[in-house]
Amino acid sequence: MNSEELKRQAAARALEYVQSGMKLGLGTGSTARHFVELLGARVRDGLEVIGVPTSETTRHDAIRCGIRLTTLDEVDRLDLTVDGADEIDPALNLIKGGGGALLREKIVAAASDRMIVIADDTKWVETLGRFPLPIEVIPFGLGATQRAIEKAFVACGVAGELVVRKAKDGHVFVTDGGHWIVDAHLGRIGDAPGLAQSLGLIPGVVEHGLFIGLASVAMLAGSQGIRVVER
Ligand code: A5P
Repeated sequence: MNSEELKRQAAARALEYVQSGMKLGLGTGSTARHFVELLGARVRDGLEVIGVPTSETTRHDAIRCGIRLTTLDEVDRLDLTVDGADEIDPALNLIKGGGGALLREKIVAAASDRMIVIADDTKWVETLGRFPLPIEVIPFGLGATQRAIEKAFVACGVAGELVVRKAKDGHVFVTDGGHWIVDAHLGRIGDAPGLAQSLGLIPGVVEHGLFIGLASVAMLAGSQGIRVVER
């Protein structure tokens, strides 16, 4: 089974948690797109839900799939967010932001009563950090922000190159919020909660891709079937 089929299977399992009347956070990325498409099919069959998309890409996908949308200004809490991840550890801490949508993804996940993370099982790791950690930054004062990030790394016992993300056309990648992303190649993050806290204190850092304590269920699709991990 190829990886797209595995992602779709994980998305289909997450759909079992959706009930009519729910307010949903709609994730971003190739796995989350499968969820949006499958959800759209259920909506066409009469399921009544309303969604908050975590990116402009997902907004367009959801509209194309006929899913009614709202915003976090119009609704208070969401019942459930379903999103992908770049890495998932046994505590269900995540690295997210490979697609650049980490800021809206984290706002939406934090506004949700529950977050289900869906992935093929290659995303499961014992320790986060093999995937470069995305850090969303304000372009102003980037040098100072990068030095502060490096200081936080030293304090947290990690080290690695910071690379300003480029888009496919070679220009600097700009997020939906108009910010830039630096990807931190750390290899291994021994204390992800500690690093998350330190990065959150740096003025030029808008958000980072460490999602600590947000996901409560992971659906991991592999050749042996789907493993459901709950926290
Ligand atoms: C988007 O910014 C990311 O957080 C994605 O959720 C993550 O990169 C997973 O994407 P895939 O499902 O495409 O692997």
